[in-house]
Amino acid sequence: MTTGTAGSAGSAAGVVRRAVCPGSFDPVTLGHLDIIGRSSTLYDEVVVAVLVNKSKSSLFSVEERIDMLTAVTAEYGNIRVDSFHGLLVHYCRAHDIPVIVKGIRAVSDFDYELKMAQMNHGLTGVETLFMPTNPEFSFLSSSLVKEIATWDGDVARLVPPLVRDRLAARLDERR
Ligand code: PNS
Repeated sequence: MTTGTAGSAGSAAGVVRRAVCPGSFDPVTLGHLDIIGRSSTLYDEVVVAVLVNKSKSSLFSVEERIDMLTAVTAEYGNIRVDSFHGLLVHYCRAHDIPVIVKGIRAVSDFDYELKMAQMNHGLTGVETLFMPTNPEFSFLSSSLVKEIATWDGDVARLVPPLVRDRLAARLDERR
Protein backbone atom coordinates (compact mmCIF):
# COMPACT_ATOMS: atom_id res chain seq x y z
CA MET A 1 0.00 0.00 0.00
CA THR A 2 1.11 3.56 -0.65
CA THR A 3 0.18 6.69 1.20
CA GLY A 4 -2.09 9.37 -0.20
CA THR A 5 -2.58 12.95 0.83
CA ALA A 6 -5.62 14.66 2.32
CA GLY A 7 -7.66 16.40 -0.31
CA SER A 8 -7.25 13.75 -2.97
CA ALA A 9 -10.65 12.97 -4.47
CA GLY A 10 -11.45 9.83 -2.54
CA SER A 11 -9.18 6.87 -1.90
CA ALA A 12 -7.67 5.45 -5.04
CA ALA A 13 -7.46 1.67 -4.95
CA GLY A 14 -4.67 0.58 -2.62
CA VAL A 15 -4.00 4.09 -1.30
CA VAL A 16 -4.44 4.63 2.42
CA ARG A 17 -5.16 8.23 3.38
CA ARG A 18 -3.68 8.57 6.84
CA ALA A 19 -3.55 11.39 9.40
CA VAL A 20 -2.31 11.83 12.95
CA CYS A 21 -4.02 13.50 15.89
CA PRO A 22 -1.16 14.15 18.34
CA GLY A 23 -1.37 15.29 21.94
CA SER A 24 -0.72 14.63 25.60
CA PHE A 25 -4.25 13.34 26.27
CA ASP A 26 -3.79 13.47 30.06
CA PRO A 27 -6.65 12.56 29.95
CA VAL A 28 -8.62 12.47 26.69
CA THR A 29 -11.60 14.87 26.74
CA LEU A 30 -14.79 15.17 24.70
CA GLY A 31 -13.05 18.00 22.84
CA HIS A 32 -10.30 15.62 21.72
CA LEU A 33 -12.89 13.02 20.78
CA ASP A 34 -14.79 15.55 18.67
CA ILE A 35 -11.64 16.20 16.60
CA ILE A 36 -10.66 12.51 16.43
CA GLY A 37 -14.16 11.45 15.38
CA ARG A 38 -14.45 14.11 12.68
CA SER A 39 -10.96 13.24 11.41
CA SER A 40 -12.00 9.60 11.17
CA THR A 41 -14.59 10.56 8.55
CA LEU A 42 -11.98 12.35 6.42
CA TYR A 43 -9.19 9.75 6.42
CA ASP A 44 -8.95 6.00 5.99
CA GLU A 45 -6.86 5.66 9.11
CA VAL A 46 -6.31 8.10 11.96
CA VAL A 47 -3.40 7.55 14.33
CA VAL A 48 -3.90 9.07 17.75
CA ALA A 49 -0.33 9.65 18.95
CA VAL A 50 0.37 10.24 22.64
CA LEU A 51 3.49 12.29 23.36
CA VAL A 52 5.92 10.63 25.77
CA ASN A 53 7.27 13.60 27.70
CA LYS A 54 9.39 12.52 30.65
CA SER A 55 10.09 16.11 31.70
CA LYS A 56 6.39 16.85 32.28
CA SER A 57 4.53 15.31 35.20
CA SER A 58 1.27 13.66 34.27
CA LEU A 59 -1.72 12.25 36.12
CA PHE A 60 -1.91 9.12 33.95
CA SER A 61 0.94 7.03 32.55
CA VAL A 62 1.31 6.81 28.78
CA GLU A 63 0.00 3.22 28.94
CA GLU A 64 -3.07 4.34 30.89
CA ARG A 65 -3.73 7.14 28.41
CA ILE A 66 -3.39 4.75 25.48
CA ASP A 67 -5.76 2.32 27.20
CA MET A 68 -8.42 5.00 27.70
CA LEU A 69 -8.01 6.34 24.16
CA THR A 70 -8.28 2.85 22.68
CA ALA A 71 -11.50 2.20 24.58
CA VAL A 72 -13.21 5.50 23.78
CA THR A 73 -12.26 5.52 20.08
CA ALA A 74 -13.13 1.85 19.40
CA GLU A 75 -16.52 2.76 17.93
CA TYR A 76 -14.98 4.71 15.04
CA GLY A 77 -13.37 1.61 13.56
CA ASN A 78 -10.39 3.29 11.85
CA ILE A 79 -8.41 4.67 14.79
CA ARG A 80 -5.03 3.35 15.91
CA VAL A 81 -3.56 4.59 19.17
CA ASP A 82 0.19 4.82 19.57
CA SER A 83 2.82 6.82 21.45
CA PHE A 84 5.81 8.79 20.24
CA HIS A 85 8.74 10.72 21.61
CA GLY A 86 10.91 13.32 19.99
CA LEU A 87 9.72 15.29 17.00
CA LEU A 88 6.24 14.63 15.64
CA VAL A 89 7.47 15.06 12.08
CA HIS A 90 9.94 12.20 12.56
CA TYR A 91 7.09 10.00 13.76
CA CYS A 92 5.03 11.04 10.72
CA ARG A 93 7.85 10.22 8.34
CA ALA A 94 8.52 6.83 9.97
CA HIS A 95 4.83 5.89 9.72
CA ASP A 96 3.93 7.32 6.30
CA ILE A 97 1.63 9.99 7.71
CA PRO A 98 1.40 13.12 5.53
CA VAL A 99 -1.12 15.11 7.60
CA ILE A 100 -1.35 16.34 11.21
CA VAL A 101 -4.84 17.31 12.40
CA LYS A 102 -5.04 19.95 15.11
CA GLY A 103 -8.16 21.24 16.84
CA ILE A 104 -8.37 25.01 17.18
CA ARG A 105 -10.47 26.17 20.14
CA ALA A 106 -9.80 29.89 19.90
CA VAL A 107 -7.63 32.47 18.14
CA SER A 108 -5.11 32.09 20.96
CA ASP A 109 -4.55 28.43 19.94
CA PHE A 110 -3.98 29.51 16.36
CA ASP A 111 -1.07 31.79 17.20
CA TYR A 112 1.03 28.93 18.61
CA GLU A 113 -0.26 26.23 16.27
CA LEU A 114 0.49 28.27 13.15
CA LYS A 115 4.16 28.58 14.11
CA MET A 116 4.38 24.87 14.83
CA ALA A 117 2.62 23.97 11.57
CA GLN A 118 4.96 26.19 9.57
CA MET A 119 8.00 24.71 11.31
CA ASN A 120 6.76 21.15 10.79
CA HIS A 121 6.12 21.82 7.12
CA GLY A 122 9.52 23.42 6.73
CA LEU A 123 11.24 20.46 8.41
CA THR A 124 9.75 17.61 6.40
CA GLY A 125 6.84 18.86 4.27
CA VAL A 126 4.17 17.34 6.51
CA GLU A 127 0.92 19.30 6.24
CA THR A 128 -1.27 20.47 9.14
CA LEU A 129 -5.05 20.61 8.95
CA PHE A 130 -6.65 23.02 11.44
CA MET A 131 -10.08 21.86 12.49
CA PRO A 132 -12.26 24.32 14.40
CA THR A 133 -13.37 22.76 17.66
CA ASN A 134 -17.08 22.35 18.23
CA PRO A 135 -17.99 25.56 20.16
CA GLU A 136 -19.45 23.33 22.86
CA PHE A 137 -15.86 22.41 23.75
CA SER A 138 -14.04 25.69 23.06
CA PHE A 139 -13.22 26.21 26.74
CA LEU A 140 -12.20 22.62 27.39
CA SER A 141 -8.71 21.36 28.23
CA SER A 142 -7.27 18.34 30.06
CA SER A 143 -5.75 20.71 32.63
CA LEU A 144 -9.12 22.25 33.48
CA VAL A 145 -10.72 18.81 33.68
CA LYS A 146 -8.06 17.70 36.20
CA GLU A 147 -8.48 20.85 38.26
CA ILE A 148 -12.27 20.53 38.34
CA ALA A 149 -12.13 16.83 39.23
CA THR A 150 -9.52 17.48 41.95
CA TRP A 151 -11.98 19.77 43.69
CA ASP A 152 -14.93 17.39 43.22
CA GLY A 153 -16.48 19.37 40.38
CA ASP A 154 -18.67 17.58 37.85
CA VAL A 155 -16.79 16.55 34.72
CA ALA A 156 -19.57 14.37 33.28
CA ARG A 157 -20.13 16.72 30.31
CA LEU A 158 -16.41 17.14 29.66
CA VAL A 159 -15.02 13.59 29.40
CA PRO A 160 -16.36 10.14 28.47
CA PRO A 161 -17.80 8.09 31.38
CA LEU A 162 -14.79 5.74 31.41
CA VAL A 163 -12.42 8.68 31.83
CA ARG A 164 -14.58 10.23 34.54
CA ASP A 165 -14.39 6.95 36.50
CA ARG A 166 -10.63 6.58 36.02
CA LEU A 167 -10.11 10.21 37.06
CA ALA A 168 -12.12 9.71 40.23
CA ALA A 169 -10.18 6.52 41.05
CA ARG A 170 -6.79 8.13 40.42
CA LEU A 171 -7.60 11.20 42.47
CA ASP A 172 -8.90 9.00 45.31
CA GLU A 173 -5.58 7.09 45.32
CA ARG A 174 -3.74 10.38 45.68
CA ARG A 175 -5.82 11.74 48.53
O1 PNS B 1 -1.89 18.00 24.00
P1 PNS B 1 -0.69 18.90 23.82
O2 PNS B 1 0.26 18.78 24.99
O3 PNS B 1 -1.09 20.32 23.53
O4 PNS B 1 0.08 18.36 22.52
C1 PNS B 1 1.20 19.03 22.00
C2 PNS B 1 1.94 18.17 20.96
C3 PNS B 1 2.28 16.82 21.54
C4 PNS B 1 1.05 17.98 19.77
C5 PNS B 1 3.21 18.95 20.56
O5 PNS B 1 3.85 19.43 21.70
C6 PNS B 1 4.20 18.11 19.77
O6 PNS B 1 3.99 17.81 18.63
N1 PNS B 1 5.30 17.72 20.47
C7 PNS B 1 6.33 16.87 19.88
C8 PNS B 1 7.66 17.63 19.67
C9 PNS B 1 7.56 18.44 18.40
O7 PNS B 1 7.48 17.90 17.34
N2 PNS B 1 7.54 19.79 18.58
C10 PNS B 1 7.28 20.71 17.50
C11 PNS B 1 8.55 21.33 16.96
S1 PNS B 1 8.11 22.44 15.68
